[in-house]
Amino acid sequence: MDDFLRAGRFDEKMTDDAAAFSTSIEFDQRIFEEDVKTNRAHTTMLMEEGIIPEDAGVKIINALNKLESEGLSALNIDPSFEDIHMAIEDYVTNLVGKEAGFMHTAKSRNDQVCTDIRLKLKSEIENTTKNIKQFITTIVEMAKENLDTLFIAYTHLQHAQPTTFAHHLMAYANELRRDCERFYDTYKRVDISPLGAAALTTTGFPINRQRTAELLGFSEVMDNSIDSVSSRDFVAEAAFDYAMLATTLGKIADEIVIWSSYEFRMVECSNAYSSTSSIMPQKKNPDIAELARGKSTVAYGELMTILSMLKAIPHSYNRDLQELTPHLWNTVDNTNDILKIVHGMVATLTINKERTKQLASANFATATELADIMVREKNLPFRSAHTIVGKIVSDSIEKGITTEDIDNEFVNKVSEEILGEPIELGEDLIRQALDPALNVKSRTVKGGCAPSAVRDAIDNMEKFLNE
Ligand code: ARG
Repeated sequence: MDDFLRAGRFDEKMTDDAAAFSTSIEFDQRIFEEDVKTNRAHTTMLMEEGIIPEDAGVKIINALNKLESEGLSALNIDPSFEDIHMAIEDYVTNLVGKEAGFMHTAKSRNDQVCTDIRLKLKSEIENTTKNIKQFITTIVEMAKENLDTLFIAYTHLQHAQPTTFAHHLMAYANELRRDCERFYDTYKRVDISPLGAAALTTTGFPINRQRTAELLGFSEVMDNSIDSVSSRDFVAEAAFDYAMLATTLGKIADEIVIWSSYEFRMVECSNAYSSTSSIMPQKKNPDIAELARGKSTVAYGELMTILSMLKAIPHSYNRDLQELTPHLWNTVDNTNDILKIVHGMVATLTINKERTKQLASANFATATELADIMVREKNLPFRSAHTIVGKIVSDSIEKGITTEDIDNEFVNKVSEEILGEPIELGEDLIRQALDPALNVKSRTVKGGCAPSAVRDAIDNMEKFLNE
Protein backbone atom coordinates (compact mmCIF):
# COMPACT_ATOMS: atom_id res chain seq x y z
CA MET A 1 0.00 0.00 0.00
CA ASP A 2 0.92 3.61 -0.49
CA ASP A 3 1.92 4.84 2.98
CA PHE A 4 0.11 8.19 2.99
CA LEU A 5 0.65 8.60 6.71
CA ARG A 6 4.44 8.31 6.75
CA ALA A 7 5.14 9.63 3.27
CA GLY A 8 5.87 13.21 4.30
CA ARG A 9 7.85 12.73 7.47
CA PHE A 10 9.87 9.58 6.84
CA ASP A 11 11.91 8.21 4.00
CA GLU A 12 11.84 4.71 5.42
CA LYS A 13 9.26 2.08 6.27
CA MET A 14 9.00 0.53 9.72
CA THR A 15 10.65 -2.85 9.99
CA ASP A 16 8.14 -5.69 9.69
CA ASP A 17 8.75 -6.47 13.35
CA ALA A 18 8.08 -2.91 14.46
CA ALA A 19 4.94 -2.74 12.31
CA ALA A 20 3.66 -6.03 13.70
CA PHE A 21 4.54 -4.93 17.23
CA SER A 22 2.68 -1.66 16.98
CA THR A 23 -0.40 -2.41 14.93
CA SER A 24 -3.77 -2.59 16.64
CA ILE A 25 -5.56 -3.75 13.51
CA GLU A 26 -6.38 -7.16 14.97
CA PHE A 27 -8.42 -6.00 17.96
CA ASP A 28 -9.51 -2.74 16.29
CA GLN A 29 -11.87 -4.90 14.23
CA ARG A 30 -14.15 -4.69 17.25
CA ILE A 31 -14.60 -0.95 16.64
CA PHE A 32 -14.93 -1.14 12.86
CA GLU A 33 -18.60 -0.13 12.70
CA GLU A 34 -18.09 2.62 15.26
CA ASP A 35 -15.15 4.03 13.35
CA VAL A 36 -17.22 4.25 10.18
CA LYS A 37 -19.93 6.07 12.14
CA THR A 38 -17.43 8.45 13.74
CA ASN A 39 -15.90 9.32 10.37
CA ARG A 40 -19.35 9.88 8.89
CA ALA A 41 -20.54 12.10 11.74
CA HIS A 42 -17.34 14.13 11.61
CA THR A 43 -17.48 14.53 7.81
CA THR A 44 -21.17 15.48 7.95
CA MET A 45 -20.42 18.16 10.51
CA LEU A 46 -17.45 19.47 8.48
CA MET A 47 -19.75 19.86 5.46
CA GLU A 48 -22.55 21.44 7.45
CA GLU A 49 -20.16 23.98 8.93
CA GLY A 50 -18.69 24.74 5.50
CA ILE A 51 -15.23 23.59 6.61
CA ILE A 52 -14.74 21.17 3.69
CA PRO A 53 -16.12 21.29 0.12
CA GLU A 54 -19.56 19.75 -0.07
CA ASP A 55 -18.82 17.56 -3.10
CA ALA A 56 -15.77 16.01 -1.39
CA GLY A 57 -17.84 15.44 1.75
CA VAL A 58 -20.61 13.71 -0.18
CA LYS A 59 -18.11 11.42 -1.90
CA ILE A 60 -16.51 10.53 1.43
CA ILE A 61 -19.88 9.80 3.02
CA ASN A 62 -20.94 7.64 0.06
CA ALA A 63 -17.70 5.67 0.39
CA LEU A 64 -18.29 5.21 4.13
CA ASN A 65 -21.87 4.06 3.48
CA LYS A 66 -20.59 1.57 0.91
CA LEU A 67 -18.02 0.27 3.38
CA GLU A 68 -20.69 -0.04 6.06
CA SER A 69 -22.90 -2.16 3.82
CA GLU A 70 -20.00 -4.31 2.62
CA GLY A 71 -18.71 -4.87 6.13
CA LEU A 72 -15.30 -5.48 7.60
CA SER A 73 -14.31 -8.00 4.94
CA ALA A 74 -14.12 -5.16 2.38
CA LEU A 75 -11.16 -3.67 4.25
CA ASN A 76 -7.56 -4.49 3.61
CA ILE A 77 -6.62 -5.67 7.11
CA ASP A 78 -2.89 -5.52 6.58
CA PRO A 79 -0.62 -5.35 9.62
CA SER A 80 1.33 -2.64 7.86
CA PHE A 81 -1.61 -0.36 8.66
CA GLU A 82 -1.11 1.01 12.15
CA ASP A 83 -4.76 0.64 12.93
CA ILE A 84 -8.37 0.45 11.68
CA HIS A 85 -8.46 4.21 11.16
CA MET A 86 -5.72 3.96 8.56
CA ALA A 87 -7.34 0.93 6.91
CA ILE A 88 -10.64 2.81 6.59
CA GLU A 89 -8.90 5.93 5.28
CA ASP A 90 -7.16 3.71 2.73
CA TYR A 91 -10.52 2.25 1.63
CA VAL A 92 -12.08 5.70 1.26
CA THR A 93 -9.01 7.01 -0.56
CA ASN A 94 -9.16 4.12 -3.04
CA LEU A 95 -12.74 5.08 -3.89
CA VAL A 96 -12.63 8.87 -3.66
CA GLY A 97 -9.04 9.70 -4.50
CA LYS A 98 -7.13 12.61 -2.98
CA GLU A 99 -10.30 14.39 -1.80
CA ALA A 100 -10.64 11.62 0.80
CA GLY A 101 -7.98 13.54 2.68
CA PHE A 102 -10.60 16.15 3.68
CA MET A 103 -12.08 13.55 6.04
CA HIS A 104 -9.16 13.98 8.37
CA THR A 105 -9.55 17.76 8.75
CA ALA A 106 -9.73 18.75 12.43
CA LYS A 107 -9.67 15.12 13.55
CA SER A 108 -6.98 12.98 15.09
CA ARG A 109 -6.90 9.27 15.66
CA ASN A 110 -6.52 10.24 19.31
CA ASP A 111 -10.04 11.60 19.66
CA GLN A 112 -11.37 9.14 17.11
CA VAL A 113 -10.26 5.98 18.88
CA CYS A 114 -11.70 6.92 22.27
CA THR A 115 -14.93 8.02 20.59
CA ASP A 116 -15.15 4.58 18.96
CA ILE A 117 -14.40 2.76 22.22
CA ARG A 118 -17.05 4.77 24.06
CA LEU A 119 -19.63 4.03 21.36
CA LYS A 120 -18.85 0.33 21.38
CA LEU A 121 -18.81 0.12 25.16
CA LYS A 122 -22.23 1.78 25.30
CA SER A 123 -23.70 -0.99 23.19
CA GLU A 124 -21.80 -3.65 25.17
CA ILE A 125 -23.27 -2.27 28.40
CA GLU A 126 -26.74 -2.20 26.86
CA ASN A 127 -26.33 -5.83 25.84
CA THR A 128 -24.93 -7.01 29.18
CA THR A 129 -27.57 -5.23 31.26
CA LYS A 130 -30.32 -6.67 29.07
CA ASN A 131 -28.90 -10.14 29.68
CA ILE A 132 -28.56 -9.56 33.43
CA LYS A 133 -32.22 -8.53 33.50
CA GLN A 134 -33.20 -11.70 31.65
CA PHE A 135 -31.31 -13.78 34.19
CA ILE A 136 -33.04 -11.92 37.04
CA THR A 137 -36.40 -12.62 35.34
CA THR A 138 -35.63 -16.34 35.34
CA ILE A 139 -34.62 -16.20 39.00
CA VAL A 140 -37.81 -14.34 39.95
CA GLU A 141 -39.95 -16.98 38.20
CA MET A 142 -38.11 -19.73 40.09
CA ALA A 143 -38.56 -17.81 43.36
CA LYS A 144 -42.31 -17.53 42.79
CA GLU A 145 -42.48 -21.31 42.55
CA ASN A 146 -40.43 -21.83 45.69
CA LEU A 147 -41.87 -19.39 48.22
CA ASP A 148 -42.59 -22.29 50.60
CA THR A 149 -39.69 -24.54 49.67
CA LEU A 150 -37.75 -24.99 52.89
CA PHE A 151 -34.02 -24.49 52.57
CA ILE A 152 -31.13 -24.30 54.99
CA ALA A 153 -29.17 -21.06 55.24
CA TYR A 154 -25.51 -21.24 56.16
CA THR A 155 -23.04 -18.97 57.87
CA HIS A 156 -19.41 -20.15 57.86
CA LEU A 157 -20.82 -22.99 55.72
CA GLN A 158 -22.38 -24.38 58.92
CA HIS A 159 -26.13 -24.81 59.38
CA ALA A 160 -27.48 -21.48 60.58
CA GLN A 161 -31.25 -20.99 60.23
CA PRO A 162 -34.07 -22.27 58.06
CA THR A 163 -35.09 -20.18 55.07
CA THR A 164 -36.71 -20.84 51.71
CA PHE A 165 -35.19 -21.49 48.32
CA ALA A 166 -37.05 -18.39 47.10
CA HIS A 167 -35.37 -16.25 49.74
CA HIS A 168 -31.92 -17.46 48.71
CA LEU A 169 -32.72 -17.01 45.01
CA MET A 170 -33.84 -13.45 45.66
CA ALA A 171 -30.43 -12.77 47.24
CA TYR A 172 -28.99 -13.62 43.81
CA ALA A 173 -31.54 -11.37 42.13
CA ASN A 174 -30.69 -8.40 44.34
CA GLU A 175 -26.94 -8.81 43.83
CA LEU A 176 -27.48 -8.99 40.08
CA ARG A 177 -29.71 -5.93 40.23
CA ARG A 178 -26.91 -3.93 41.82
CA ASP A 179 -24.48 -5.26 39.20
CA CYS A 180 -26.91 -3.99 36.58
CA GLU A 181 -27.40 -0.62 38.25
CA ARG A 182 -23.64 -0.21 38.55
CA PHE A 183 -23.45 -0.53 34.75
CA TYR A 184 -26.23 2.07 34.34
CA ASP A 185 -24.23 4.45 36.46
CA THR A 186 -21.01 3.82 34.54
CA TYR A 187 -22.93 4.31 31.30
CA LYS A 188 -23.45 8.00 32.16
CA ARG A 189 -19.68 8.52 32.17
CA VAL A 190 -19.18 6.53 28.97
CA ASP A 191 -21.90 8.45 27.19
CA ILE A 192 -19.94 11.72 26.69
CA SER A 193 -18.25 12.64 23.45
CA PRO A 194 -14.50 13.26 23.18
CA LEU A 195 -14.76 13.86 19.42
CA GLY A 196 -13.42 17.24 18.36
CA ALA A 197 -10.60 17.19 20.90
CA ALA A 198 -8.47 16.31 17.84
CA ALA A 199 -4.91 15.49 18.94
CA LEU A 200 -5.36 17.18 22.33
CA THR A 201 -6.09 20.91 22.09
CA THR A 202 -9.04 20.86 19.65
CA THR A 203 -8.54 22.81 16.45
CA GLY A 204 -8.66 26.28 14.93
CA PHE A 205 -11.42 25.13 12.55
CA PRO A 206 -14.90 26.17 13.71
CA ILE A 207 -16.08 22.61 14.33
CA ASN A 208 -19.39 21.84 16.03
CA ARG A 209 -18.74 19.25 18.72
CA GLN A 210 -22.33 19.32 19.88
CA ARG A 211 -23.44 18.28 16.41
CA THR A 212 -21.14 15.25 16.16
CA ALA A 213 -22.15 14.20 19.66
CA GLU A 214 -25.78 14.42 18.58
CA LEU A 215 -25.16 12.49 15.35
CA LEU A 216 -23.45 9.73 17.31
CA GLY A 217 -26.06 9.60 20.07
CA PHE A 218 -23.89 10.92 22.91
CA SER A 219 -25.67 12.81 25.70
CA GLU A 220 -22.95 15.37 26.25
CA VAL A 221 -19.64 16.74 24.96
CA MET A 222 -16.54 16.47 27.13
CA ASP A 223 -15.47 19.77 28.61
CA ASN A 224 -11.70 19.45 28.34
CA SER A 225 -9.87 18.29 25.25
CA ILE A 226 -6.78 16.97 27.06
CA ASP A 227 -9.04 14.94 29.31
CA SER A 228 -11.00 13.81 26.26
CA VAL A 229 -8.10 12.00 24.59
CA SER A 230 -6.41 11.04 27.82
CA SER A 231 -9.12 9.58 29.99
CA ARG A 232 -9.77 5.87 30.17
CA ASP A 233 -11.24 5.84 33.66
CA PHE A 234 -14.49 4.84 31.96
CA VAL A 235 -12.69 1.69 30.78
CA ALA A 236 -11.41 0.89 34.27
CA GLU A 237 -14.84 1.55 35.72
CA ALA A 238 -16.56 -0.73 33.23
CA ALA A 239 -13.88 -3.37 33.82
CA PHE A 240 -14.68 -3.18 37.53
CA ASP A 241 -18.38 -3.58 36.78
CA TYR A 242 -17.60 -6.68 34.72
CA ALA A 243 -15.32 -7.97 37.49
CA MET A 244 -18.07 -7.48 40.06
CA LEU A 245 -20.64 -9.20 37.85
CA ALA A 246 -18.16 -12.05 37.31
CA THR A 247 -17.81 -12.27 41.10
CA THR A 248 -21.56 -12.58 41.59
CA LEU A 249 -21.75 -15.25 38.91
CA GLY A 250 -18.71 -17.09 40.27
CA LYS A 251 -20.30 -17.18 43.72
CA ILE A 252 -23.53 -18.58 42.35
CA ALA A 253 -21.53 -21.21 40.45
CA ASP A 254 -19.59 -22.04 43.61
CA GLU A 255 -22.81 -22.71 45.54
CA ILE A 256 -24.05 -24.98 42.78
CA VAL A 257 -20.83 -27.00 43.03
CA ILE A 258 -21.29 -27.37 46.79
CA TRP A 259 -25.04 -27.94 46.80
CA SER A 260 -24.86 -30.63 44.14
CA SER A 261 -22.30 -32.75 46.01
CA TYR A 262 -23.49 -36.06 47.50
CA GLU A 263 -23.10 -34.70 51.04
CA PHE A 264 -25.39 -31.75 50.32
CA ARG A 265 -27.65 -33.21 47.58
CA MET A 266 -29.74 -30.03 47.64
CA VAL A 267 -29.79 -29.43 43.90
CA GLU A 268 -28.96 -31.36 40.79
CA CYS A 269 -27.54 -29.85 37.63
CA SER A 270 -29.15 -30.78 34.35
CA ASN A 271 -27.16 -33.40 32.43
CA ALA A 272 -26.80 -30.77 29.72
CA TYR A 273 -24.59 -28.78 32.12
CA SER A 274 -22.65 -31.75 33.56
CA SER A 275 -19.69 -33.90 32.62
CA THR A 276 -18.58 -37.38 33.55
CA SER A 277 -15.21 -38.95 34.24
CA SER A 278 -13.03 -40.77 31.74
CA ILE A 279 -12.27 -43.45 34.34
CA MET A 280 -15.02 -43.33 37.01
CA PRO A 281 -18.20 -44.30 35.18
CA GLN A 282 -20.51 -43.25 38.02
CA LYS A 283 -19.41 -39.60 38.03
CA LYS A 284 -21.65 -36.62 37.37
CA ASN A 285 -19.44 -33.57 37.68
CA PRO A 286 -20.55 -29.91 37.75
CA ASP A 287 -17.78 -28.89 35.33
CA ILE A 288 -19.72 -26.00 33.86
CA ALA A 289 -20.23 -24.48 37.31
CA GLU A 290 -16.56 -25.01 38.16
CA LEU A 291 -15.46 -23.41 34.91
CA ALA A 292 -17.77 -20.46 35.51
CA ARG A 293 -16.16 -20.06 38.94
CA GLY A 294 -12.67 -20.40 37.47
CA LYS A 295 -13.21 -18.15 34.47
CA SER A 296 -14.64 -15.40 36.68
CA THR A 297 -11.10 -14.72 37.92
CA VAL A 298 -10.01 -13.56 34.46
CA ALA A 299 -11.94 -10.35 35.09
CA TYR A 300 -9.71 -9.44 38.06
CA GLY A 301 -6.55 -9.84 35.99
CA GLU A 302 -7.96 -7.63 33.25
CA LEU A 303 -9.01 -4.97 35.76
CA MET A 304 -5.56 -4.91 37.36
CA THR A 305 -3.88 -4.75 33.94
CA ILE A 306 -6.05 -1.79 32.95
CA LEU A 307 -5.42 0.09 36.21
CA SER A 308 -1.68 -0.60 36.06
CA MET A 309 -1.43 0.72 32.51
CA LEU A 310 -3.26 3.89 33.46
CA LYS A 311 -1.26 4.65 36.55
CA ALA A 312 2.10 5.55 35.08
CA ILE A 313 1.43 7.61 31.97
CA PRO A 314 1.28 11.38 31.68
CA HIS A 315 -1.85 13.18 30.55
CA SER A 316 -3.11 13.30 27.00
CA TYR A 317 -2.62 10.55 24.43
CA ASN A 318 0.08 7.94 24.92
CA ARG A 319 0.33 4.89 22.72
CA ASP A 320 0.21 2.69 25.83
CA LEU A 321 -3.53 3.38 25.78
CA GLN A 322 -3.84 1.19 22.72
CA GLU A 323 -2.89 -1.80 24.85
CA LEU A 324 -5.75 -1.15 27.26
CA THR A 325 -8.62 -1.83 24.94
CA PRO A 326 -8.12 -5.56 24.24
CA HIS A 327 -8.28 -6.18 27.98
CA LEU A 328 -11.62 -4.42 28.11
CA TRP A 329 -13.06 -6.52 25.30
CA ASN A 330 -11.67 -9.68 26.84
CA THR A 331 -13.37 -9.07 30.16
CA VAL A 332 -16.59 -8.11 28.36
CA ASP A 333 -16.60 -11.35 26.34
CA ASN A 334 -15.45 -13.58 29.16
CA THR A 335 -18.05 -12.23 31.58
CA ASN A 336 -20.83 -12.36 28.97
CA ASP A 337 -20.00 -16.02 28.38
CA ILE A 338 -20.18 -16.75 32.11
CA LEU A 339 -23.46 -14.86 32.42
CA LYS A 340 -25.03 -16.88 29.63
CA ILE A 341 -23.87 -20.24 30.94
CA VAL A 342 -24.76 -19.58 34.59
CA HIS A 343 -28.20 -18.37 33.50
CA GLY A 344 -28.76 -21.60 31.58
CA MET A 345 -27.45 -23.74 34.40
CA VAL A 346 -29.56 -22.08 37.11
CA ALA A 347 -32.68 -22.20 34.91
CA THR A 348 -32.32 -25.97 34.56
CA LEU A 349 -31.43 -26.81 38.17
CA THR A 350 -33.59 -29.36 39.95
CA ILE A 351 -34.14 -28.72 43.62
CA ASN A 352 -34.35 -31.74 45.93
CA LYS A 353 -37.18 -30.49 48.15
CA GLU A 354 -37.23 -33.55 50.42
CA ARG A 355 -33.58 -33.07 51.17
CA THR A 356 -33.73 -29.31 51.71
CA LYS A 357 -36.71 -29.75 54.05
CA GLN A 358 -34.79 -32.34 56.03
CA LEU A 359 -31.73 -30.07 56.25
CA ALA A 360 -33.85 -27.05 57.28
CA SER A 361 -34.69 -28.71 60.59
CA ALA A 362 -31.51 -30.72 61.11
CA ASN A 363 -28.56 -29.84 63.27
CA PHE A 364 -30.47 -27.48 65.61
CA ALA A 365 -31.03 -24.91 62.85
CA THR A 366 -34.13 -23.65 64.71
CA ALA A 367 -32.26 -22.98 67.97
CA THR A 368 -32.34 -19.18 67.54
CA GLU A 369 -36.12 -19.25 67.50
CA LEU A 370 -36.21 -21.31 70.72
CA ALA A 371 -34.15 -18.59 72.40
CA ASP A 372 -36.33 -15.86 70.83
CA ILE A 373 -39.50 -17.50 72.15
CA MET A 374 -38.08 -17.40 75.70
CA VAL A 375 -37.52 -13.67 75.30
CA ARG A 376 -40.94 -13.12 73.75
CA GLU A 377 -43.03 -15.32 76.05
CA LYS A 378 -41.09 -15.24 79.31
CA ASN A 379 -39.47 -11.81 79.12
CA LEU A 380 -36.02 -13.31 79.53
CA PRO A 381 -33.00 -11.20 78.44
CA PHE A 382 -31.75 -12.61 75.13
CA ARG A 383 -28.28 -13.42 76.52
CA SER A 384 -29.81 -15.68 79.23
CA ALA A 385 -31.98 -17.41 76.63
CA HIS A 386 -28.92 -17.81 74.38
CA THR A 387 -27.06 -19.52 77.26
CA ILE A 388 -29.95 -21.90 78.03
CA VAL A 389 -30.39 -22.94 74.39
CA GLY A 390 -26.64 -23.29 73.91
CA LYS A 391 -26.61 -25.72 76.83
CA ILE A 392 -29.67 -27.57 75.49
CA VAL A 393 -27.81 -28.08 72.21
CA SER A 394 -24.55 -29.22 73.81
CA ASP A 395 -26.43 -31.62 76.14
CA SER A 396 -28.41 -32.95 73.15
CA ILE A 397 -25.25 -33.58 71.16
CA GLU A 398 -23.71 -35.35 74.17
CA LYS A 399 -26.80 -37.54 74.61
CA GLY A 400 -27.09 -38.11 70.88
CA ILE A 401 -30.63 -36.68 70.67
CA THR A 402 -32.04 -34.50 67.90
CA THR A 403 -34.20 -31.36 67.75
CA GLU A 404 -37.40 -33.46 67.78
CA ASP A 405 -36.48 -34.92 71.18
CA ILE A 406 -36.20 -31.54 72.92
CA ASP A 407 -39.27 -31.37 75.17
CA ASN A 408 -40.61 -29.24 78.00
CA GLU A 409 -39.01 -31.38 80.68
CA PHE A 410 -35.57 -31.12 79.09
CA VAL A 411 -35.88 -27.33 78.62
CA ASN A 412 -36.97 -26.91 82.24
CA LYS A 413 -34.08 -29.01 83.50
CA VAL A 414 -31.52 -26.89 81.67
CA SER A 415 -33.19 -23.63 82.68
CA GLU A 416 -33.07 -24.73 86.33
CA GLU A 417 -29.34 -25.28 85.95
CA ILE A 418 -28.80 -21.85 84.42
CA LEU A 419 -31.52 -19.66 85.97
CA GLY A 420 -32.24 -21.63 89.12
CA GLU A 421 -35.87 -22.14 88.07
CA PRO A 422 -37.82 -23.91 85.30
CA ILE A 423 -38.87 -21.65 82.43
CA GLU A 424 -42.13 -23.55 81.72
CA LEU A 425 -42.49 -22.83 78.02
CA GLY A 426 -44.82 -25.77 77.56
CA GLU A 427 -44.81 -28.38 74.78
CA ASP A 428 -46.74 -26.25 72.24
CA LEU A 429 -44.39 -23.27 72.31
CA ILE A 430 -41.37 -25.54 72.11
CA ARG A 431 -42.76 -27.44 69.10
CA GLN A 432 -43.69 -24.14 67.47
CA ALA A 433 -40.19 -22.72 68.02
CA LEU A 434 -38.49 -25.80 66.63
CA ASP A 435 -40.66 -26.09 63.51
CA PRO A 436 -38.64 -24.79 60.52
CA ALA A 437 -41.73 -23.86 58.51
CA LEU A 438 -43.05 -21.70 61.38
CA ASN A 439 -39.59 -20.17 61.82
CA VAL A 440 -39.68 -19.12 58.20
CA LYS A 441 -43.28 -17.81 58.39
CA SER A 442 -42.45 -15.66 61.43
CA ARG A 443 -39.77 -13.68 59.62
CA THR A 444 -42.15 -11.23 58.00
CA VAL A 445 -40.00 -8.12 58.41
CA LYS A 446 -38.76 -6.45 55.25
CA GLY A 447 -36.07 -8.56 53.64
CA GLY A 448 -37.10 -11.63 55.63
CA CYS A 449 -37.72 -15.18 54.45
CA ALA A 450 -41.48 -15.35 55.15
CA PRO A 451 -43.34 -15.96 51.89
CA SER A 452 -45.14 -12.61 52.33
CA ALA A 453 -41.82 -10.73 52.69
CA VAL A 454 -40.26 -12.53 49.73
CA ARG A 455 -43.37 -11.75 47.68
CA ASP A 456 -42.87 -8.04 48.48
CA ALA A 457 -39.23 -8.34 47.41
CA ILE A 458 -40.36 -9.99 44.18
CA ASP A 459 -42.79 -7.09 43.56
CA ASN A 460 -39.94 -4.61 43.99
CA MET A 461 -37.76 -6.62 41.65
CA GLU A 462 -40.48 -6.77 39.03
CA LYS A 463 -40.85 -3.00 39.17
CA PHE A 464 -37.12 -2.74 38.46
CA LEU A 465 -37.38 -5.27 35.63
CA ASN A 466 -40.23 -3.35 34.01
CA GLU A 467 -38.55 0.07 34.30
N1 ARG B 1 -4.39 2.57 17.45
C1 ARG B 1 -4.38 3.70 18.32
C2 ARG B 1 -5.08 3.33 19.66
O1 ARG B 1 -5.79 2.38 19.67
C3 ARG B 1 -5.11 4.84 17.69
C4 ARG B 1 -4.57 6.17 18.04
C5 ARG B 1 -3.21 6.31 17.51
N2 ARG B 1 -2.71 7.63 17.69
C6 ARG B 1 -1.42 7.90 17.45
N3 ARG B 1 -1.07 9.10 17.61
N4 ARG B 1 -0.57 6.97 17.12
O2 ARG B 1 -4.89 3.98 20.64
